[in-house]
Amino acid sequence: MTDWTPLATTGDLQPGDRRTAFVDDEPVLLIRIGDDYFCVADACTHDGQPLGDGPIDGIEITCSRHGARFNLTSGEALCMPATEAILSYEVQARDGQILARPAKVNDNRSATGGAGQIDGEVSAEPAEESRPASEKTGPPDSDATSGDDETADAVEMIESLREVIDPELLINIVDLGLIYDIRPEHDKVTVDMTLTSPACPAGPQLVQQAKLALEKLDSIETAEINLVMTPPWTPERMTDDARDKLGIF
Ligand code: FES
Repeated sequence: MTDWTPLATTGDLQPGDRRTAFVDDEPVLLIRIGDDYFCVADACTHDGQPLGDGPIDGIEITCSRHGARFNLTSGEALCMPATEAILSYEVQARDGQILARPAKVNDNRSATGGAGQIDGEVSAEPAEESRPASEKTGPPDSDATSGDDETADAVEMIESLREVIDPELLINIVDLGLIYDIRPEHDKVTVDMTLTSPACPAGPQLVQQAKLALEKLDSIETAEINLVMTPPWTPERMTDDARDKLGIF
């Protein structure tokens, strides 16, 4: 097993902070959430985008480029267009230092990483149970299309949704973090989408434009947009670029 690599001291990161570092010459992202530390490879398995500026919700991080989500504990890819897990790392706090090493890789390509707690002397924990398949979002089980086709379609859909601009904030709905899930099935797609607030006056317009943006694609006959308010939207869901444009730091 690879040796532990020191990434930071326990005083370096406050809750919510993150930093990039290297383990065995590979770029990694160390994140502190509350008193827990998570460490994952700093490269999206879809197209290599660094994850450092990706919005974090709970223990999930979203790639800011095309919207793939990953579990920070297991590295599991939770939605398209990524289909492969990112490597996760075991983390422990010891002698005032935060250390990490690559986690054991399971058959399903997720890694058994874990959060290291700041108050624990040695506190690498086993990965939490993966969510049951019925609760997972992401690629359909259908074998009607190849993985590459599905990924290409997902990217095409996300790029098309990026053409839908919130008329008040002048940011597209993908970078605003309004798109929660995209579930393609043959020539249909179901999208879970939220609004920045339940009373958003542009809501009906955005829903309609999202539907049209998808249905103009050759691969999509019907797009169904589900407006969901849970979990509620927060500014943390925006990409860094969107936050910069809005002057939110
Ligand atoms: S590079 Fe991350 S989703 Fe495409």
